[in-house]
Amino acid sequence: MTDKDINEKLEKAINDQINAEFYSEYFYLSMYAYFERMNLQGFKNWMNVQMQEEHAHAMGLFEYLQERGGKVVLEAIEKPKTDWSSPREVFEDVLKHEQLVTSKINALLDVAEDVHDRAAVSFLDWYLKEQVEEEANVGNVLKTLNLVCDDKQCLFMLDKELASRTFTAPVIG
Ligand code: FEO
Repeated sequence: MTDKDINEKLEKAINDQINAEFYSEYFYLSMYAYFERMNLQGFKNWMNVQMQEEHAHAMGLFEYLQERGGKVVLEAIEKPKTDWSSPREVFEDVLKHEQLVTSKINALLDVAEDVHDRAAVSFLDWYLKEQVEEEANVGNVLKTLNLVCDDKQCLFMLDKELASRTFTAPVIG
């Protein structure tokens, strides 16, 4: 246990972000279940990787808060949506969600800046860069779904492509 070395407002904001990252994991787990029902194994794999990334994001913040002597307070995780009309609708939701997460990370950085915590700003910068990558990744899948995937054959081809995504544990901070 380290001595408390973090502003309380920032501690609360990091705890909120931990909850948002665990919610993201839960949200993608719900999409994982949807793709299982649709028997789209590649899409399901994509969601499995995404869930693991979100778990790593949550734990990165969790460990950072502890390292700074802060108190981790876990809150209830909101119930995610369970049904979608198509894979395209799923990815529209993913993009919207990641855009929301980006705005949350920006707000968290604002708090770190407001309390003049440069160490936290530097740590949280990683999350902002990660969001740029996430939005680009999702945008690419959505572009394919929007532009060329109007038939089942295309969906199966995309499913094959998404099956190759693998999880590499991120080095955070
Ligand atoms: Fe952890 Fe997808 O944001």
